[in-house]
Amino acid sequence: MMKTRWGWGISCIALMGCVGLSARYPQEKPQENPALPKVRGQCEVCHRQEALDWAQSRHAQAWVSETFAMSTNNRSIKMCLPCHAPEPLLVKGFGEHPDLRSEMREHGIDCMSCHRDANGSYHGTLGTQPEDHPGPIVKNEKFGTHEMCGTCHEVFGTYDSFKQTQWAKDPRGCINCHMPVVERPIAVAPSGLPVRKARVHKFEGATPEMFQKGVKVEAERKDDALQVKLESIWVGHTFPTGPEQVVAIVDVRLLKAGAEVGKKQELLADNVAIDGSDTRLQPGERRVIRVPLIGEPDEAVVRILHKHHRDLPDDKARVLYEMRVKL
Ligand code: HEC
Ligand code: HEC
Ligand code: HEC
Ligand code: HEC
Ligand code: HEC
Repeated sequence: MMKTRWGWGISCIALMGCVGLSARYPQEKPQENPALPKVRGQCEVCHRQEALDWAQSRHAQAWVSETFAMSTNNRSIKMCLPCHAPEPLLVKGFGEHPDLRSEMREHGIDCMSCHRDANGSYHGTLGTQPEDHPGPIVKNEKFGTHEMCGTCHEVFGTYDSFKQTQWAKDPRGCINCHMPVVERPIAVAPSGLPVRKARVHKFEGATPEMFQKGVKVEAERKDDALQVKLESIWVGHTFPTGPEQVVAIVDVRLLKAGAEVGKKQELLADNVAIDGSDTRLQPGERRVIRVPLIGEPDEAVVRILHKHHRDLPDDKARVLYEMRVKL
């Protein structure tokens, strides 16, 4: 399928404009547990762990994200908004882009967006039958499949890239990596509930832990160069993946007695709209980056940086990996 391309209008004014929106949750929080986030539909009252996990996820940031505001002229580009604050997916069904909802957009992609359907029922795969629930439970075998995730994650090519890999053979390919199974009760109830196979709702993506599981990094001196080797061993799509503003950087600093004598940066990015190149690491790919050792360095610092927007300064990047090599 053709990948859609847009021109990205970026301005610092848009970034400034969204600072005020970054307070995500109202001040009043449930008494029993002050750390609990406020969730639409009060799911957090019973599903505490899911709510605590979700609040740490990028899905919870999808609307308030500063970099999203930067690339949508402060959320004014209409076609960009629906997936970042959607009506429940199950209203139109998996495979159809959801509509933008009119209220409480600051909750981003929340419990209702994924679990609730047009009739007010809640979908899952466990077949539980709670007595007192905000809506009936529907057992839906398609729930949690890559078709569900692909509904939104197709837009920047992640789903197409995934479908070329071995992991796509498993209908739960995306969640097996992004929602690990934990055995625990899935709700709190006065009478206690059985332990079940639950899924962690943090939707961890470009974090140091995930990156280091997914990409093997090695660095060693070879003659008059430092060789940095990257191998994608457990990433079900390109690294990085997402809209073309999302980039990763292999950043190498050469030091002599602690002072910088040289540096090299290699951008891993989708530059197709800029110069036709795509330098992202493909699933299974091995890549060697050669850094000439100029200035008689005695040490190198190798870092992998990740940015949600290529226009952010490097000191705002997330450091996914860092290693020091004696030369
Ligand atoms: C009053 C407590 C309570 C509230 C509020 C509540 N739930 Fe539940 N929910 C439960 C209980 C209890 C179960 C079943 C637990 C069990 O049997 O192990 C459950 C089960 C579920 C399941 C599993 C379905 C399956 O069988 O696969 C989902 C999904 C779910 N709830 C979603 C939600 C969402 C979304 C909200 C917020 C709109 C919500 N719940 C609000 C108590 C609650
Ligand atoms: C991006 C979609 C998505 C969002 C957002 C989401 N869930 Fe889920 N949820 C899932 C998937 C996928 C599963 C696992 C389905 C399966 O059994 O394979 C799941 C499972 C569950 C279950 C049953 C087992 C378990 O893991 O606990 C409950 C209960 C639940 N979710 C509640 C919630 C609540 C409460 C929220 C909001 C705080 C929430 N979910 C947000 C996709 C989502
Ligand atoms: C309603 C659309 C939608 C659905 C459905 C959806 N996502 Fe997302 N997802 C997003 C958006 C939008 C973001 C980016 C949020 C942000 O950072 O602003 C995101 C972010 C993520 C991230 C984190 C990316 C990072 O930068 O670290 C992961 C991992 C992820 N999604 C996995 C999943 C999985 C697995 C499923 C299926 C269970 C799923 N998503 C379903 C829209 C969706
Ligand atoms: C074999 C494990 C695996 C599978 C399968 C997988 N991922 Fe990932 N994913 C990772 C790892 C590891 C990372 C962290 C490295 C990175 O950022 O790409 C990641 C990162 C992400 C990110 C953040 C990307 C970024 O660079 O900002 C998103 C979004 C995401 N995955 C979504 C998905 C979706 C949607 C699917 C299914 C269509 C999926 N993943 C399948 C392992 C996997
Ligand atoms: C079909 C659903 C969909 C639409 C429409 C959509 N996005 Fe997203 N957006 C996503 C998903 C899924 C991700 C997660 C991608 C990843 O991290 O790999 C995402 C992530 C992002 C991110 C990176 C995360 C962040 O918060 O910085 C930016 C920026 C972004 N989108 C901007 C846009 C812009 C600009 C448009 C309109 C041109 C747009 N989106 C339209 C689904 C969508």
